[in-house]
Amino acid sequence: MRTFVYSSRQQRIVFGAGTVGQVRAEVELLGGSRVLVLAGPRGGDLAGRVADVLGPLVAERFDGAAMHTPVEVTERALAVLRESGADCLVAVGGGSTIGLAKALALRTDLPQVVLPTTYAGSEVTPVLGETADGRKVTRSSPAVLPETVVYDVELTTGLPVDISLTSAVNALAHVVEALYSPDANPVTDRLALDAIAGIAEALPRVVRDPVALEPRADLLQAAWLAGTCLGTVRMGLHHKLAHTLGGSFGLPHAETHTVLLPHTMAYNAPAAPDAFVRIARALGVPDAPTGVFDLVAGLGGPISLRAIGMAEGDLPKAAELAVAQPYPNPRELREDAIATLLTDAWHGRGPAAPQPSAADRLTQEVVASFGSTPDPRTRHLLTGLVEHLHRFVVEHDVTDAEWRYAIDFLTRTGQKCDDTRQEFILLSDTLGVSSMVDLLTNSRTEGTTPSAVLGPFYVDGPPVRAQGADIAHGMAGEPLWVDVRVTDQHDVPLPQAIVDVWQSNSDGFYDIQLPELDGPVLRARFATDDDGRLRFWTILPAAYPIPRDGPVGEMLDAAGRHPFRAPHVHFMIGAPDHTPLVTQLFPAGGDYLDSDTVFGVKPELVVDFTPRDGPPPDGRQVDRWSALHYTFRIAR
Ligand code: BEZ
Ligand code: FE
Repeated sequence: MRTFVYSSRQQRIVFGAGTVGQVRAEVELLGGSRVLVLAGPRGGDLAGRVADVLGPLVAERFDGAAMHTPVEVTERALAVLRESGADCLVAVGGGSTIGLAKALALRTDLPQVVLPTTYAGSEVTPVLGETADGRKVTRSSPAVLPETVVYDVELTTGLPVDISLTSAVNALAHVVEALYSPDANPVTDRLALDAIAGIAEALPRVVRDPVALEPRADLLQAAWLAGTCLGTVRMGLHHKLAHTLGGSFGLPHAETHTVLLPHTMAYNAPAAPDAFVRIARALGVPDAPTGVFDLVAGLGGPISLRAIGMAEGDLPKAAELAVAQPYPNPRELREDAIATLLTDAWHGRGPAAPQPSAADRLTQEVVASFGSTPDPRTRHLLTGLVEHLHRFVVEHDVTDAEWRYAIDFLTRTGQKCDDTRQEFILLSDTLGVSSMVDLLTNSRTEGTTPSAVLGPFYVDGPPVRAQGADIAHGMAGEPLWVDVRVTDQHDVPLPQAIVDVWQSNSDGFYDIQLPELDGPVLRARFATDDDGRLRFWTILPAAYPIPRDGPVGEMLDAAGRHPFRAPHVHFMIGAPDHTPLVTQLFPAGGDYLDSDTVFGVKPELVVDFTPRDGPPPDGRQVDRWSALHYTFRIAR
């Protein structure tokens, strides 16, 4: 059982396109009437748009936000703030501008409305990282959390592609570390996996078409989720290293995250295997660290610390700082191993692809043994079979005893087969494999009647009967008048189509199960008339159990499954130049329709066997009878 503590935080999130237009209302909702508008040096245009919306509420603007939130910049902004008499902060920009708003809020307790233009996620965390004397100090305080976040997707379309990429990988780093955080909980897990999948899916679209709104919206939404995780659970080695390199060596924040992430993931992967399996799955790659490296490299992002300004000589110091103070991380923090990690990252070497396990090597060896199978389809099927069987054995940790049981089960299944009993097909039927093949076959002939399994009770060469015959030969049961048509897909009737019919009696037995019967009963071969029509008498079929005195019966018993088939009548239809159809019709309202033991029921094959009174069409004297009308469509 998992134990955890989860604290949720109160924040107002406004998300959409053009939401900048709501900033004034949001400020007023917080009781603000004099606003200090904050931006970075490159954010002048955006700050201007925000100021236009705020109109007379603007008390002052400060466009000097700087990376890593230096305390001296905060002090200058504080002086401007005091001078202006502002009672609310509005920040538009990336992590640096939002960092400045937080630093001011910490010192003044003023409410903040922030409009993020990147994917860093700072807007939804109560964390502030400030730099003083070349050292970055991080603190967490509820006073720092912005009251309102206005996400306006339109403000992000101007973000250059390179910054979009590194900023999105920064967001990815939050959720990777959230999944193996000691504080991870079901809420952050879900948010993190959603964010990982969202970033992996949206980022390449943003790079391809940076001004399109939908990809930007998807990425921004994923970034919000990622930031929420960052604000809720503690981060590990990756964030520590990124902050160390940024705070102590002046490296650019998002680029540093981008270069480091594949390496810190590779470092932690052996210590958090479950988390990394989930990360890989969410990313849609076989291995998470190399998957992230390939994503970044493939989109043209930075892959080396050297390229983003790190001096090689600073690497040992960085490794030393990364282990100087304890913090939670799934894998033990070893200075030498971290130094190696940093060296690899400095050179831009990708993390090593994981060595295939002994199990993977075995699978590869067996697959390779089929590599020169001449027929491509046979090769494809054989290698697929090997891969699936091996994966099944590994995933289910199959024991030697279980394997022996399976071999014995299959041996006995084979031994149960003879001219009249096909236990292997029965096994395929009860495992739903026959119906799966059938489903695929049907999907290839649109507009035709669905097929259904043949079953073991068909006998080749049934007695030929004339139209209007009664195939029950006096056997007890409620009379059923069958009036069906055979057409092609375009409703053109097919005369002289051969229709074989077979079914159980009202006790659920086929004639071949009743040795006392003299000759075939409830089975016949007909031909359709000139209108493609066929009419005959029979009796209502009954539900019956499939043969269960063999291994398949054992399996059903072991699973607590019943052995019954829903009542049905079998049809096998052939016409020159047309694809034969093997199918069944099921009376609506019959037993086991929703739990047929061979999964043969399809909605299109469930039809009304309508009870009738009055004389039947051929004038036969019967008290009660039912009628079945149906049109079979077969493919040319
Ligand atoms: C049948 O409908 O006759 C049948 C089909 C599959 C397994 C057993 C019986
Ligand atoms: Fe049957």
